[in-house]
Amino acid sequence: MSETTFPLAKVAISLDDRSYDIHIGQDLLSRSDTWDHLPKAQTAMIVTNETIAPLYEDALRRAICPHYKQVHTVVLPDGEAHKNWQTLNLIFDALLSKGCDRKTVLFALGGGVVGDMTGFAAASYMRGVPFVQVPTTLLSQVDSSVGGKTAINHPLGKNMIGAFYQPVRVVCDLSTLRTLPGRELSAGLAEVIKYGPIADMAFLDWIESNTDALMAQDPAVLAHAVQRSCEIKAWVVGQDEREAGLRAILNFGHTFGHAIEAGLGFGVWLHGEAVGCGMVMAAELSHRLGLVDAALVARLKALIVRAGLPVRGPVIDAADNAGHYIDHMRLDKKSVGGDIQFVVLDGPGKATVRGAPDAMVRDVINTCCA
Ligand code: NAD
Ligand code: GLY
Repeated sequence: MSETTFPLAKVAISLDDRSYDIHIGQDLLSRSDTWDHLPKAQTAMIVTNETIAPLYEDALRRAICPHYKQVHTVVLPDGEAHKNWQTLNLIFDALLSKGCDRKTVLFALGGGVVGDMTGFAAASYMRGVPFVQVPTTLLSQVDSSVGGKTAINHPLGKNMIGAFYQPVRVVCDLSTLRTLPGRELSAGLAEVIKYGPIADMAFLDWIESNTDALMAQDPAVLAHAVQRSCEIKAWVVGQDEREAGLRAILNFGHTFGHAIEAGLGFGVWLHGEAVGCGMVMAAELSHRLGLVDAALVARLKALIVRAGLPVRGPVIDAADNAGHYIDHMRLDKKSVGGDIQFVVLDGPGKATVRGAPDAMVRDVINTCCA
């Protein structure tokens, strides 16, 4: 599944003519040869945000300049609250005002918010232009930059408007994580932890043994976490690109998590925080459905605490908190005819998608929320 040649690891995403590699290593962004063999074009557009631009835009621009006649940059406002039509339109405004043609290559320089929006812009600008993911958060390196899900939020629901559209390359420069705030590192660990209970219990063991090193940003340990996460995601996406079935397991914790994000207002809890807490709720539901024992729920919860993440959900509506969560969850993309479908654990290292009795779901929410 992977080929490791020091100092670079490459993980392949195999999707016929949409196949590409994830490059993982230190100091990749500023090397000109990192950007060799991308689709030929006269123009590149770097899409980034106001936090990341001062840190990395210049280095990326210098490195890609030899490959293009013109390199433009559009700087977006920062934050989940800006993952919407208005901000997406800033990308189209920049592309059109600079006369960018249909071969223009977009570079998504940032976390999952920039990546998801740039991907959606690339999918729709002139009916599709190539784009490269340059993820700079742990969460985006282990999850959002890989697999071609692109989207913006709607006030009524998370990631409700988007497209499946694969990047032509993903470049995970681990050295960019040095500037990441601790809260964002923890949020990324939620998505790393996710891969254990759904697919690889040996990886869960490894994360437990290395949580302190991950929190301390040990470079070798982070490199392994990114590589193994990408390998598992590549394995899933390679079998089910458009989420006809298997890929849904990657949404473990997300049904509850998206309700937290949308219910509180986007950006109040970080996506990874909501997913971490959502995984505790989904594990608890799995236990009540008789699919896993209480020890696995307790183990997962303890790890999420050690990763610096909340494990008790917020009260969004004091009058009927469970009802409020359920209303949000009915809008989830997995819902069928208003029936909520949950990703639940189906034994250690396995996950499946199924419904659950309303009363049980209410009870889980009431038990797991502060
Ligand atoms: P984010 O993009 O908001 O980035 C987090 C914060 O860190 C931002 O303030 C950002 O400016 C800042 N930042 C980014 N890189 C930095 C760096 N190197 N140094 C300092 N600051 C840096 O959040 P995220 O956690 O990366 O991504 C969350 C988003 O990803 C959500 O919108 C979620 O829905 C989406 N997502 C998508 C997928 C997918 O498959 N497409 C999967 C998981 C999550
Ligand atoms: N993050 C879930 C997916 O890519 O399917």
